[in-house]
This record gives sequence, structure tokens and C-alpha cells, in this order.
Amino acid sequence: MTLRLCCAWIFILLIPSLSDGGKLLVVPMEGSHWLSMKPVVEKLTERGHEVVVLTPEVSWTVRNTGQYKMKSYPVSYTVEELDNAFHDYVAAHLKGLPFPLNVLVLYNSAVHVFSTFFVHCKELFSNKETLQYLNQSGFDAVLTDPIFMCGATLANYLALPFVFFMRGLPCNLHYTATQCPSPLSYTPRTFTFNSDRMTFFQRVENALVSLLELVYCNGYYEDALTLSSEVLQRDVSLIDLLNSASVSLLRYDFVFEYVRPVMPNMIFIGGINCAQRKPLSKIMVKHKYRVEMGRINLK
Ligand SMILES: *[C@@H]1O[C@H](CO)[C@@H](O)[C@H](O)[C@H]1NC(C)=O
Repeated sequence: MTLRLCCAWIFILLIPSLSDGGKLLVVPMEGSHWLSMKPVVEKLTERGHEVVVLTPEVSWTVRNTGQYKMKSYPVSYTVEELDNAFHDYVAAHLKGLPFPLNVLVLYNSAVHVFSTFFVHCKELFSNKETLQYLNQSGFDAVLTDPIFMCGATLANYLALPFVFFMRGLPCNLHYTATQCPSPLSYTPRTFTFNSDRMTFFQRVENALVSLLELVYCNGYYEDALTLSSEVLQRDVSLIDLLNSASVSLLRYDFVFEYVRPVMPNMIFIGGINCAQRKPLSKIMVKHKYRVEMGRINLK
């Protein structure tokens, strides 16, 4: 009897669909972010995992190619609204205004982009049918690009482990949330254009910018914080949302960044951007040469 039971178990374990793949919920980010994530999703499906990509019905780039499952939900905005917000954002970068006007204009346009794109998340959480489907599907984990915090909120809501697939977050958040040492004397902050070798005054500037980091992301993520506090029914901070990520897969290369300590669950996968390589066109080669010369001149 015991032997027969044992054989039955071995037989069950040998059935590939029961012993192999996991069930993964993917919460992607629009645009170029999705271009790097898509091959990963396709590969995971190919390897026998059950992958479901969750996406708003209105999207620039996320399409059903038949190589993975998709679950979409209706949203109230149009593609034109996304286009307009993004055009304003790009235009703000090209205005070339003097300091501090440039900072204000860039900040406001970023806040506008964040709130326009974040509407999809509010509408996801007001869609009972989709939430019920997600809760009942028995996913093992969530893979998400954290830039809009929707995937992190959803993973917290469904109490699932989550993995980040990302380029970076504003305000040094991906280093703060993972508790990386980040000494102000050596790690230059975004917008300062300092290097890891700073003069005394550059270090002072770095320290001042790092103080702003505590504030300006609360502006970018105001809607996300309100929504996640509502759905998780507690006061949520950005760090709360981010710090329980199991692994962060970082889509950039260590050698292109300033040298800084990172935690063991932060893994550099910059090579993934070159998965679909093609030779550079002549114009690009010329441009690349100029950029390199520029860098040499800067030194
Ligand atoms: C998911 O469904 C279970 C059982 O139906 C329920 O107890 C739980 O509260 C639901 N969770 C969420 C986040 O909706």
C-alpha cells in the first residue's frame, strides 16, 4: 500500500505541468520599458511558466502577441491623452530655461505625467471583476516595473512576493528602500551632475539635493500613495511599498554607473538591453564617436 502510494506520488511529480512551471503575474510599464521586459516574459512562457500580463486596454506598446496570456481591463482615458502628457514632458526638457525655472518646469511636467499615467491603477483597483480574477488565480509571484508603483501596490494587496525589473527610480529610492549604504560624500545625487570625486562645495550641494529627495518624490507619487494607503488600509510610505521586493533586476550596467555598494538582492542585467542587437547605422556611429570625444574632453 505504502509502496503504491509512493509510486503514485512519483508519477504525479513527473507530470511536467504539476512539478515544473510557476504562475507569474506581470505588471508592466508602458513604452520603452516594456520592450526590454517582453522578451523575458516570452522566454518564461516558453519555459513552461504560466505568465499573465496585466494591462490597461489603452496602451502604446503592450499587445497580445499570442506568446503569453494577457488580462486587460477597461480605462477611461484615450491614447491621445497619454500622447499629450508625454509631449508636454518632452517639450519641458527641450525648453532650455535657466535655473531655477528649469527645475520647476521639469518637476511640474513630471508630476503631470505621473498623475496622467497613474489613472490606470486607480481604475484597476475600482474594477471588482479584475481584482476577483487576480485574487482567485493563485499566482505565485509578481514581476513588475516599479516606476508607477502600481505593481508593488497590487503585490502588497494580494500578499504575493514580488520581483522588480527596472532601470531606476527617482529620489534614489531603489537604493534607500534596499538599505544600500549611500554616503553623500561619494555617491552623487541625480541632477547634481557631480562625479564620485567631489569638492567640498559639491558635497554640500549633494547633501542639499539629498534633502530634497525626501520631498519631491512625494509629489511624483502623491496619487500612488493615496491609492495604496486606501487599498492596503494603512498609512503607506514609498519605502513601505518598495522594501519588501524579493529581488531587483537592474536593467543597467554597473560599469556605467558611479561606483557604489549594492545589496545582494540587486542584480545587474544590463546585457538584456542588447538581446536584440543590430549593427549601428552610419549616422549613429558618427554620433557615438562625438559623444565619446565629448567625454574625453570633459575629463
Ligand atoms: C481573496 O479571496 C479570499 C477568499 O475568497 C478572501 O478571503 C480574501 O480576502 C481575498 N483577498 C483579497 C485581497 O481580495
